[in-house]
Amino acid sequence: MSGDPPCWLNQFNDFSMTTALAPELSDYLAKNDRRAHDELFAFLRIPSVSARSEHKGDMTHAAEWLASSMRTAGLQTEIMPTGGHPVVLGEWRGAPAGAKTVLIYGHYDVQPVEPLDLWTTPPFEPAVRDGRIYARGSVDDKGQLFLHVKALEAHLATRGSLPVNVIVLAEGEEEVGSGNLAPFIERHRERLRCDYCVISDSSMFAPGLPSILSSLRGLAYFEIEVRGPASDLHSGIYGGAVVNPATALARIIATFHDEHWHVAIPGFYDDVRDWEPRVLKEMRALPFDDERFRREVGAPALDGEAGRTTLERIWTRPTCEVNGLLSGYTGEGAKTVLPGKAMAKVSCRLVPDQTPDAIKRVLTAHIERVAPRGVSVTVNALHGGLPWRAEMRGPLVDAARRALAGAFGREPVITGEGGSIPVVGDFERILRAPVLLIGFGLPGENAHAPNEWMSDENFVKGTRAVAMLWDELAKPAA
Ligand code: BES
Ligand code: ZN
Repeated sequence: MSGDPPCWLNQFNDFSMTTALAPELSDYLAKNDRRAHDELFAFLRIPSVSARSEHKGDMTHAAEWLASSMRTAGLQTEIMPTGGHPVVLGEWRGAPAGAKTVLIYGHYDVQPVEPLDLWTTPPFEPAVRDGRIYARGSVDDKGQLFLHVKALEAHLATRGSLPVNVIVLAEGEEEVGSGNLAPFIERHRERLRCDYCVISDSSMFAPGLPSILSSLRGLAYFEIEVRGPASDLHSGIYGGAVVNPATALARIIATFHDEHWHVAIPGFYDDVRDWEPRVLKEMRALPFDDERFRREVGAPALDGEAGRTTLERIWTRPTCEVNGLLSGYTGEGAKTVLPGKAMAKVSCRLVPDQTPDAIKRVLTAHIERVAPRGVSVTVNALHGGLPWRAEMRGPLVDAARRALAGAFGREPVITGEGGSIPVVGDFERILRAPVLLIGFGLPGENAHAPNEWMSDENFVKGTRAVAMLWDELAKPAA
């Protein structure tokens, strides 16, 4: 998607500000604004594409650059090996006795940049146009990670201390599935022990409207292979006598949904837990314009599971999607062939309390039931992650509400998200610490696509918001 960001926001009342950033932090951030931008641009110039082996050196460079920047901010910093790209760990543990410990997570790796010809300016030469910082990784997630470093620096440079103990954990493999991170967290469970986790790797609902993310969907990704004859056959000589694997796969896929777009795999919804009415109510109050959204995605019409609004379908309901199909002849002209095999990539987005394992079981059993005779079918699970839903109460959320309202001049809204950040579930499971997701991206930001951008205003206000967050969190409960 490209072009102007959609503005789903109609009208919001101004929120009367009750919280302001401490003057010394505000002055420091204002005075050092140019330097913060210059440094961010230097970070963005490093092509840290985790998926590509030719960028292995750039990954090391990015980790070293980040470690040095965190050290300058006043953190004790270490680059720690994993089975893949390293973790950069920053620590500051000088808070007064009894203070909370907060773990800030982000990632310094970025998605590949192809197709290059669709970028207006090169992906690793940051450019500012219309208040947007264009570069691969600007919003996902270097800009959002770096603003946390700058907020910590403001505290440490002006006061020599922070009101909370801080651990910054920056990984280099988020965009390739975070496969080494859960074992890393397990291994360093004691060192990473914390009261709260905070992540900025998501988006606000609309420009000017700060948002607290209350949910992420999980993921269960499969490859389905249908095998028929030992090799491709002449479709005239053999067609009619041998089951066609492409047709068999199409028949299997057609059983995944009923005519109302409910997933028709028996047991699929068994573990779905109802949404908390309070959170659903806040979601329904969000000013979302279906027609604007339809135009943004360029589809002839919006449709999906019957009886649900668009946002509910994306944020609160599980799905089963075909991600790719491969079979037979797809080149120029015609070729009369009966393919020997067919393959589909299928992924399910999950909601609490579904798990990738349970979904694998029901999907595999269903496919075994519906697969036509004359072909053999295998279902192979690729990666997955648990869904997540926040408690949305407690001192951290309260502090975030105040800090976001103070920085943006508006009470934040509670949003959901259709995408996945698998490590969120790992943090809660292994560290038993609640996670707060406050993202500063915007709709239409082109994450993972050409012309990725981050709003400069959100970089600045996001830094102020998280600087305020630590003071707010340390305030005694009212
Ligand atoms: N940062 C995104 C996920 C995201 C986007 C969260 C917008 C909240 C708002 C992340 O980089 C991503 O793309 N995740 C993948 C999952 C992963 C296992 C490949 C996804 O959701 O497809
Ligand atoms: Zn990301």
